Amino acid sequence: MTNIGSYHERVRDFNWNIAEKELGYNPGDTINIGWYCSDRICRMGLSDRIALYHEGFSGEERKYTFNDLRLATNTIGSFLRDLGIVPEDRVCLFMDRIPELYFSFIAGLKIGAIVQPLFSAFGDESLFVRLENAGTRAIITQRKHLAKVRKIADRLPGLEHIIIVDHRGDKELLKGEKAFSLTEATPVEEIEIFPARADSPSVLHYTSGTTGQPKGVRHVHYSLISQYLTTKWVLDLRDDDIYWCTADPGWVTGTSYGIIGPWSMGVTQCVLDSGFSADAWYRFIEKYRITMWYSAPTAIRSLMKAGDEVVKKYDLTSLRHLASVGEPLNAEAVIWSEKVYGLPFLDTYWQTETGSIMISNFPGMKIKPGSMGKPFPGIEGVVLDPKTFTPITEPGKVGLIAFKPGWPAMMTTYWNNPEKYSEKFVNGWYLAGDRAYLDNEEYYWFIGRDDDVINTGGHLVSPFEVESALLEHEAVSESAVVAKPDEVNMEVVKAFITLKPGYTPNDDLELEIMNFIRKKLSSLAMPQEIEYMDSLPKTRSGKIMRRLLHAREWGEEIGDTSTLDDE
Ligand code: WTA
Repeated sequence: MTNIGSYHERVRDFNWNIAEKELGYNPGDTINIGWYCSDRICRMGLSDRIALYHEGFSGEERKYTFNDLRLATNTIGSFLRDLGIVPEDRVCLFMDRIPELYFSFIAGLKIGAIVQPLFSAFGDESLFVRLENAGTRAIITQRKHLAKVRKIADRLPGLEHIIIVDHRGDKELLKGEKAFSLTEATPVEEIEIFPARADSPSVLHYTSGTTGQPKGVRHVHYSLISQYLTTKWVLDLRDDDIYWCTADPGWVTGTSYGIIGPWSMGVTQCVLDSGFSADAWYRFIEKYRITMWYSAPTAIRSLMKAGDEVVKKYDLTSLRHLASVGEPLNAEAVIWSEKVYGLPFLDTYWQTETGSIMISNFPGMKIKPGSMGKPFPGIEGVVLDPKTFTPITEPGKVGLIAFKPGWPAMMTTYWNNPEKYSEKFVNGWYLAGDRAYLDNEEYYWFIGRDDDVINTGGHLVSPFEVESALLEHEAVSESAVVAKPDEVNMEVVKAFITLKPGYTPNDDLELEIMNFIRKKLSSLAMPQEIEYMDSLPKTRSGKIMRRLLHAREWGEEIGDTSTLDDE
């Protein structure tokens, strides 16, 4: 029996108050996610249950009960409060997947701060634009990432506190820098929980668009309602599960389903803070007897590449349910996983903006490999005609994925950018920015994004950000960045550039430019290929035609080129 039971019955009788009741929340009550994920679980008598099994990159193991989680988050919360952090201050988390990252997330929410998690792999420029945009007041980081923070701190007058969770006293602390050690701090038994309302802001995740700087997607505490129920019905978590979400909390999957969903249900989760290898991952599943595994297509394709033999070296019989998110999950991957693990990966579709799973293959429902499945109960999904923005009823006809606004986890705005936020709505629909079609049983089939954003291994990269960073290199005159097909990551970043006079194309320069981007932005945003050109294709008004370069990479019809310069 699955948690959701009959999908059709759930759709018919759906009301979000199912989740509200289970969580003991009445409309108008306070609803603090931090409290729900720690204190409430202890009150339910589960203080001694393991909340987190953690394995570090050098193999060190730690485990924490829900009571440990409650105390650690109280301790960090009161440290932040003593520094003067007040509700709605932005507190950035800039750490590897160490326990302090997970605890600081809950701690920030407990005191009403807006938590801003960022990938620790970000270079200084990626970090800077996001901290500047958010007006971040405090950043919690580690020694190993401090140099990047120091490099930009002077340009961020609002950044008052830089908290280092593993300071060893051997390095001098500069202005604004504070040392905090969870192991040395006195555990705080009780703190006053910020009385968050349904619409109190909670998390600020940055996501990339085609133009302009990354956008801060602002979520509220009420998002818990969707995150809890989707975790229960899609990820099918139960009391005795050992859950592993492979996503980094710098990405929305790592917070909605790597922190909030499982902990609000009082479920034990595992974190592996090390790089990918098939052996390391299978060993981790075997060791912790993981039962539910939520991952991403790029990882699954990498596992496929590693082959069937390595699977046999490990005992993976604990697994009972698998799901995937972030990019198209090809039918072959679903069929392969069924063959080698005895379980198909169930595809789920959603976005930073939606805050929770929107479309998915539900446990117990007929799975069509390659399809994203159907909308979550209570979610009204459609495919819209791109010209009239009215729903398409004809099966197989491609249109724009859209949802009727109003589910609990939906973003409430883009930070400081209400214009961009309102552009997401047409005719009363929220436009996801993706294209898909419905088949004759109303399953969704993903076609592609409706913009130029590059989805590389599940991470969205803005061509604009990479182009801007390229222009800062002394040799680069012009640049255009597009996606290029890739077997494992589906898409990778490719840059076309023209050089300034005095520079000649060569391999060393290519490597140097790649590294320049990696350091400034991140390894994901780094072009995997750079092609030198004499001039870039442009429209008559001088706009670089990315579309044309993109089509060339994908071997597609080039389409309308009537506005091209060189015709
Ligand atoms: C893409 C991730 C195909 C899509 C939680 C979406 C997918 C964007 C799927 C959001 C899927 C996500 N199949 N494409 N199952 N899931 N996407 O904001 O383009 O990082 O709009 O959130 O990823 O990415 P984001």
